[in-house]
Amino acid sequence: MTKKTQLIILGASGDLTARKLIPALFSSYLDGWFRQPVEIIGVARRAWNTEGFLQHIQQHIDLTSIEIHQGWREFTQWISYCQLNLDKAEEYSHLAQELDTAYPAHNPVNRVFYLAVKPELFLPTVKGLHGANLLDQHRGNYARIVVEKPFGHDLNSARDLNSALLELVHENQLYRIDHYLGKETVQNILAFRFRNAMFEPLWNQKYIELVQITVAEQGTVGSRSGYYDNSGAINDILQNHLLQLLTLVAMEPPASMDGDAIRNEKVKVLRSMRFPETTTELETHLVKGQYAGYADEPGVRADSQTETYVAVRTYIDNWRWGGVPFLLRTGKAMKERFTSITLQFRMPPHSLFGPYDPAFCHLRPNSLRIRIQPNEGIDLFFDVKKPGPGMNMQPATLSFNYEEFFGVPSPEAYQRLLQDVLSGDQSLFIRTDEVEESWKWTDSLKKVTPQVPMQTYPIQSWGPEQASQLFQHCEGSWAQH
Ligand code: BG6
Repeated sequence: MTKKTQLIILGASGDLTARKLIPALFSSYLDGWFRQPVEIIGVARRAWNTEGFLQHIQQHIDLTSIEIHQGWREFTQWISYCQLNLDKAEEYSHLAQELDTAYPAHNPVNRVFYLAVKPELFLPTVKGLHGANLLDQHRGNYARIVVEKPFGHDLNSARDLNSALLELVHENQLYRIDHYLGKETVQNILAFRFRNAMFEPLWNQKYIELVQITVAEQGTVGSRSGYYDNSGAINDILQNHLLQLLTLVAMEPPASMDGDAIRNEKVKVLRSMRFPETTTELETHLVKGQYAGYADEPGVRADSQTETYVAVRTYIDNWRWGGVPFLLRTGKAMKERFTSITLQFRMPPHSLFGPYDPAFCHLRPNSLRIRIQPNEGIDLFFDVKKPGPGMNMQPATLSFNYEEFFGVPSPEAYQRLLQDVLSGDQSLFIRTDEVEESWKWTDSLKKVTPQVPMQTYPIQSWGPEQASQLFQHCEGSWAQH
């Protein structure tokens, strides 16, 4: 029997569907990725018909080329809309009927339910689907659930949500999204480390002095202030995107590329992270800030103490990384938008070219920078001899640029993630224990953040100046791209 696949987007009237999900699905369609067509059903409370829904989702598609226009017409034949009150359990049987009648000849149907809904609707939605028997898998079909962040707001809420969800579905049905994991450059961290034998022997405390990771955003909170003011930079970026990048940089080689093998190693890293609440010198380990004018943003409380910037110096207390500081930083309204990871190598054990002068700390010659976005690529920094008399050194760089090398821009993160959900590969999704471990560490950080003063920083700056104190002696400074 042929199995049809249905992708049901719950909460489809929101921004995520039009801005990310539909463009990603459409690109996959144009790339010919769907081996068999996937029926896409948008579900929301809005009183639309399919036509109205199509108008909504068309807004971020550039239909100027005839080819794309034609593709869009074909693609949209697979799209329909179903009106439903997601918080009314009794309405889900109506959804079940709609889904069942769409393809009576093709039952059982494989189904992916994408929860593009507010966090408070996660559980009611899954309960509604469960109550309408839409999550059954016993007929050889699959029923998967995709959950967006935020997944809880602390350890307790994440645990409660996990246990409530796992009473209704199995872990292998749950796909918790962190869209950073779908970015090409993020996936390339593992390829770079474990496919190339030349870097991995150096990838440890013996040769690496410091690791810094930045997720800098130029934008302010914009229209998302309602959500953001209750979240802040720690919950919004540090707990998820930044910690995910850190686990990929720091993890041990997995036994295979199997989803659980990878996630086992990531969890071990999270478990080895030193709890910030045990840090005694807080001022040299933690800086938080708010951009000037944040409290005047519409929707933000006038006395808001929400951080829009955080920088933390932390450690991974294990054999590979013992003693190596990991400096993590994220902020909104910063000078530039970029995400990068820099591994700074130790100095050679002995200087042949004159004594090291602490005044020239910046001459630390070797580092490796993984540019996650924009201008995706990798740079290797080293010193070379300047031509001419004497032994004078000059910094040089070897660079690899994705777009230049491959000639096409990297695909959108959601494209890869949606393809993986449809093909049942969970390696780029966050497992229960992973989400809980990352909250454990984040809670420990949040325990001490009230003890450090809130710094104000100007819009379009690199954030509070105090963050430079997180680097000690000759450890360098924050990257600027
Ligand atoms: C989201 C955060 O998870 O990531 C946003 O909620 C942030 O606040 C966004 O702007 C950044 O994603 P990207 O892919 O633009 O770096």
